[in-house]
Amino acid sequence: EKGGYDHFMLKEIYEQPQVIRDTFRGRLLSDQGLIKMAGIEDNLNKFTNAKRIIIVACGTSWHAAQVAEYMIEEFARIPVEVEYASEFRYRNPIINADDVVIAISQSGETADTLAAIKLAKEKGAFVFGVCNVVGSSISRETHAGAYTHAGPEIGVASTKAFTTQITVLALIALRLAKAKGTMSQSDYLRNLIELELIPEKVQEALLENDRILEIAHIYKDAPNCLFLGRGFNFPVALEGALKLKEISYIHAEGYPAAEMKHGPIALIDENMPVIVIAPQQNHYDKVVSNIQEIKARSGKIIALVSKGDEQVKNLADHIIEMPNSTEALTSIIATIPLQLLSYHVAVLRGTNVDQPRNLAKSVTVE
Ligand code: F6R
Repeated sequence: EKGGYDHFMLKEIYEQPQVIRDTFRGRLLSDQGLIKMAGIEDNLNKFTNAKRIIIVACGTSWHAAQVAEYMIEEFARIPVEVEYASEFRYRNPIINADDVVIAISQSGETADTLAAIKLAKEKGAFVFGVCNVVGSSISRETHAGAYTHAGPEIGVASTKAFTTQITVLALIALRLAKAKGTMSQSDYLRNLIELELIPEKVQEALLENDRILEIAHIYKDAPNCLFLGRGFNFPVALEGALKLKEISYIHAEGYPAAEMKHGPIALIDENMPVIVIAPQQNHYDKVVSNIQEIKARSGKIIALVSKGDEQVKNLADHIIEMPNSTEALTSIIATIPLQLLSYHVAVLRGTNVDQPRNLAKSVTVE
């Protein structure tokens, strides 16, 4: 049932090209320049008239929400707020009838997310679900929704659910951009075409597995680890850190790269591995200077770079290459090496990768 893999987590990491394709199949019609999702089409006015979108989620799904915030604001110019469901439900939040609430949940059973949805409905908001498990409580409790098509996720650490969530949320952001006329046709089409290429680019990113295993051998005994990224890759850094801590029990923190100098840089010494997501995109030069600051303090740099990058290669202790895409969609690709890194570190440390201590796959109690 693990399909020849040692763990469900590894199987699920390798399933990503397929399940990302399953998730956009029939919805992404790039040759016609169209995105079709029934749950969005049927409620398009609710979204286009929304004064703001509030996204509620927990854990990894909350990280997907953070990527969605950047995508929806950039593409569709609708203000977005991302909330931990557990905070949202208890802080007497302001929710209006012209707000749209999106709830993201792999299991569709997370107690806090479910409670946040009920609260938003009581206040008259339209609630849209992004779930993986068909017929789950959250999919039933929401007014409309769009499923991810990740298939069953058995490993407790979420992998393919996250990348398929970003896929669905990218489709939504692009559909709303088209409806609102907030994106140039060429940018819109480029993103459609690039989204269609994501499965093969994820496949290509998986080819770095051996190199990642070597890096895992070197750092498996590190007590701490930092993950840095900017823009769309800031939530990817958070997700990389969460993955490492939950399955390897190494203390890890994700940060926006520029926040380093506001505190975490004090932690840097020759024993601190720092994983930096540094694709050749908008913030490239700024990330390069962040890398130089870490090097100057003897930190060990593991950099995720665009294929063929030379500048970071000369600075970093290790590089992991990945294909480029649009800035937004590169977040999906950059997730892959971080999943593999935490997987290999955990296996080398002998932890129970598929069922880490103290964790449950569905958190049905608050
Ligand atoms: C992390 C992880 C958890 C879940 C969180 C939300 O790998 O699995 O952080 O993401 O418990 O679960 P769902 O998405 O089912 O609501």
